[in-house]
Amino acid sequence: MDTAEIKKMATKYIINTYGERQLALVRGKGCYVWDADGGKYLDFLGGLAVNGLGHCHPKVVEAVQEQAEKLLHVSNLYYIEPQAKLAKLLIDNSTMEQCFFCNSGAEANEAAIKLARKYTKEKIAANRFSIITMENSFHGRTLTTITATAQPKYHKGFEPMTPGFKYVPFDDLEAVKNAIDNETCAILVEPIQSEGGVNVPSPGYLEGLRALCDENNLLLVFDEVQTAMGRLGKFFGYQSYGIEPDILTMAKSLGGGVPIGAMLTKRHIAESLGPGTHAATFGGNPLVSAAAIAAVTTVIEENLPGNAAKMGEYFMGKLLDLKDKFPQVIEGVRGRGLIIGLVLKIDGKPVASNCIDNGLLTICTMDHVLRFLPPLIISEKHVDEAVEIVEKVLSDV
Ligand SMILES: Cc1ncc(COP(=O)(O)O)c(C=O)c1O
Repeated sequence: MDTAEIKKMATKYIINTYGERQLALVRGKGCYVWDADGGKYLDFLGGLAVNGLGHCHPKVVEAVQEQAEKLLHVSNLYYIEPQAKLAKLLIDNSTMEQCFFCNSGAEANEAAIKLARKYTKEKIAANRFSIITMENSFHGRTLTTITATAQPKYHKGFEPMTPGFKYVPFDDLEAVKNAIDNETCAILVEPIQSEGGVNVPSPGYLEGLRALCDENNLLLVFDEVQTAMGRLGKFFGYQSYGIEPDILTMAKSLGGGVPIGAMLTKRHIAESLGPGTHAATFGGNPLVSAAAIAAVTTVIEENLPGNAAKMGEYFMGKLLDLKDKFPQVIEGVRGRGLIIGLVLKIDGKPVASNCIDNGLLTICTMDHVLRFLPPLIISEKHVDEAVEIVEKVLSDV
């Protein structure tokens, strides 16, 4: 099928939640993808931060093929060897002690929210249930995770929202301090806000949240759905900050391209989720766990966090050079590791679309931020190619 045929069929049979799309992608290898008409693209969006290993990484493909011939799914009514091994791998590489597996970032956050409430009610104070979250955050699309997401545009039409969330501006410790009351049980925050416009907190902010949690007996929950698996330069984002959360969530690139999410926490907190309190039929099934073991092992063995840090610096430097060339169009560059935003003074949507037309996959977020989430396997050559395309597009503005 060509792009026009795929588009026609999709438009007729799929609910239009994603709107019109420019491309139908059919094949990928490493940092590149091809569309149904044969067009080739440098993928600097990485399936929305999922393809940290690039497309069809041979180790993930091999693990999936091997597991597919052995056992695809059994449910969590049984012990699952790859799931247990994956849990050990994640725990061995973090300061956490136990995992719960699910299928997406939103589900991982749902699990974290449920755990934070239940643990607090049981172990801290029965009347505490409220969670402080940040303006411009993004935590998922279930009813409770859009409530946690403090952006009214995601709530509109779905009210009433889940009770028990309080919003404060991101990167404002004083606001968090003032929002804490005798009902608060946790603070939920992304180490870097990606969907919300690539907002990097000031030095000391996350550490300050940790201190506030300690002083007030609250749980600190890190939404690492985008930042885990090396994107910020360490395996987990929190490892760059010298503090640790009580609960963290991850998904996106955990499965190397297959859908899996996880919530990690300490054993004494995890105890509140006893048998029957939470579940996911598919959560950590043999297929996705085998893929995730291959993905995690590859990220660690190939030191992809190190490459993310190095390439992030190189990329940001190149984008800052562009800012000098196009001061009338570029406001600034922000990010860390390989979550990078080029902040424009103009509408970013047509710019992103023109980049795609010129062979570079990127996306515009918050109307004027061109966001890059490239695979962690990129080299300087890929960055140069991407920057050349952005430069060409901006020259035509
Ligand atoms: C920080 C963060 N949390 C949660 C989610 C939701 O993840 P999912 O779409 O897998 O439910 C996302 C998705 O973009 C995200 O970026």
